Amino acid sequence: MMRSLLFVPGDSSRKMEKAAACGADALILDLEDSVAPSRKAEARQIVRDFLIGAKRLYPAPKLIVRVNALDTGLTSDDIAAVVEGRPDAVLLPKAGSGADIQDLGTRLAVEEASAGLTEGSVLIHALMTETAGGMLAAGSFAAKSDRLAALSWGAEDLAAEIGASSNKDDNGRYTDVFRLARSLTLLASAHAGVEAIDTVFTDFRDMEALDSECRAAVRDGFSGKMAIHPAQVPVINSAFTPPPADVERAVRILALFAAAGPDAGVLSLDGKMIDKPHLRQAERVARRAGLDPAALPDPDSFKSS
Ligand code: COA
Ligand code: MG
Repeated sequence: MMRSLLFVPGDSSRKMEKAAACGADALILDLEDSVAPSRKAEARQIVRDFLIGAKRLYPAPKLIVRVNALDTGLTSDDIAAVVEGRPDAVLLPKAGSGADIQDLGTRLAVEEASAGLTEGSVLIHALMTETAGGMLAAGSFAAKSDRLAALSWGAEDLAAEIGASSNKDDNGRYTDVFRLARSLTLLASAHAGVEAIDTVFTDFRDMEALDSECRAAVRDGFSGKMAIHPAQVPVINSAFTPPPADVERAVRILALFAAAGPDAGVLSLDGKMIDKPHLRQAERVARRAGLDPAALPDPDSFKSS
């Protein structure tokens, strides 16, 4: 499960080393907006070297590379430089529709073949709300590629595209278009059957505000959140780790359904009705706690925690 995904500028091996040790579930090695045009080529080599040298020991973070958008002419060179280092995934910014995911998947297949990797071994994450077109095509991200593993949203590029001078109102609350972007990401992710990852919180000294944004994200169905600073990682990890009481309840629900067999309909637990949506929610909580819903511990083993 990826709770925290920390952005690291792709031209800074110093930051990569620091990031690898900060407890993030994933690092997003960035070749896009945090790297100046004059440093793109150097960043590709730094990211490639880091991927190749990265220790793949548990619990090493997953390694994701954010490439440049498809309309920049840089994407194929980005991929050619990094796929040999076997990143877990590539993050596509400014994704316009499911067709862009297919396009990227085709390009990845070529590089996988020349690197001797199994086709499909590099997954795709996409930022789907950075352009107006991407938002309007939210439904198209489903079923376009088996590689698609997560969708996320960004507010900065969309603001620039629509001509909004700010994405937040005077009270610091996202304005409607950006709240819609967040909602569409949740819907498109559920529709595509992939993880929904919440966007970055840029005020990296304000941990209280980050924590409340994380709590809202958990409540609304996001499974993780992107970070820009190592200090944000523990706050995100803790918010996205379900409390023991929730895990215990989820395990009890799963055990109840397992005992009732495949034809289980409505059941009861502690005097409350339990049906299919509760089962799916319990599976989610179990997965977030790092448990495999298909291979459960004894519910009684949670009593003490
Ligand atoms: N990954 C790894 N290390 C990071 C880091 C990151 N994202 N952000 C900060 N650090 C390191 C700094 O290098 C510094 O280490 P040092 O003292 O050994 O030099 C330490 O953490 C403390 O950093 P701090 O002084 O608090 O912040 P800063 O002013 O150096 O950096 C940013 C602020 C925003 C430039 C930096 O956090 C950053 O680069 N974030 C990622 C930006 C990015 O990738 N954006 C694209 C997606 S929106
Ligand atoms: Mg951007």
